[in-house]
Amino acid sequence: MGAIISQCSLNVLQQAAENLKTGGLVAFPTETVYGLGVDAENESAIARMYKVKNRPADHPVIVHIADLDAVDYWATDIPDYAIALMRDYWPGPMTLLLKRTEHAKDFVTGSQEMVGIRMPAHTVALNLLQEFAKLGGHGLAAPSANRYGAVSPTTAAAVEQELSQYLEPRDQILDGGASLVGVESTIIDCTKENPSILRPGAITAEMVEQSTGIIVAEPDDKKVRVSGSHKQHYSPQANVVIDGVAKAGEALIAMSDVETPKDVVRLAAPKNLEEYARVLYAALREADKQGIATVNIVMPEGSGLAVAIRDRITRSAASA
Ligand code: TXA
Ligand code: MG
Repeated sequence: MGAIISQCSLNVLQQAAENLKTGGLVAFPTETVYGLGVDAENESAIARMYKVKNRPADHPVIVHIADLDAVDYWATDIPDYAIALMRDYWPGPMTLLLKRTEHAKDFVTGSQEMVGIRMPAHTVALNLLQEFAKLGGHGLAAPSANRYGAVSPTTAAAVEQELSQYLEPRDQILDGGASLVGVESTIIDCTKENPSILRPGAITAEMVEQSTGIIVAEPDDKKVRVSGSHKQHYSPQANVVIDGVAKAGEALIAMSDVETPKDVVRLAAPKNLEEYARVLYAALREADKQGIATVNIVMPEGSGLAVAIRDRITRSAASA
């Protein structure tokens, strides 16, 4: 259950905000991937969201906000470099980990002392968050709207396919078109002297250094639970093979300059890195839809967004 709503008028978003305020689950579009939204202060609603995702309950979730004022509600001791990042890249595909206030409960942070905050760059998401704030809400916890370990959804139809059988009739799926970025936000730990990137994304290390004037450090705390950093994640049913040779009956994802061998199903032929990130998850889903057993992926080279794409491909191929 959980109907798809394709005309996200203000009226619809007001109703969805009311639904969230009373414990409903509302999947909504963002520029990265679709999120499964829930009031970040409603413990029982968050527990239901974990059930729908089949995700371990001690994992932290990102709090989504529409207004910079909300940062101080959730976080404290904010370093200057984090403020520079907010100014330069919010709204956008970037999550900042900051020291939490008492408002960020254990059920949001996974009992860690830091809270993840993001301002998404999508009209539907921002308007939903604004309507939610008008009702007294302070933020929406929203993990990617997929079952635990599966590929993140970049369309409303993919959310429906993943989750509708676990949603209640009151829950909703807002359709805001295909996500433009296509891979999850960059997660930046801002609780140390230097920022460090825990999950690569469209906001690259180069962009962080340019904005802050500070060198990005290697993450030193391997204990930080970033669920997407478990080795196997973002996995389709199909077997993913990296940089192999595609055989007849198998599928191929590679940049457009790579030719398709005979009788191989070409799932994507992106012309640049932005397009690669945008189409990757939909291509993996398509492999499963077509019942293809093996997907060959040629990884993109270089820095910038290629780092995030290689990260997700490597995880989708990991077997445990
Ligand atoms: O692009 C995105 O970030 C999407 C959209 C919906 O905003 N959301 C997303 O959420 O990818 P999720 O839950 O699938 O992945 C968020 C990651 C998780 O790996 C989680 O462990 C980490 O962020 N995270 C969130 N809060 C954290 C915290 N307080 N400390 C450490 N890691 C945190
Ligand atoms: Mg996820």
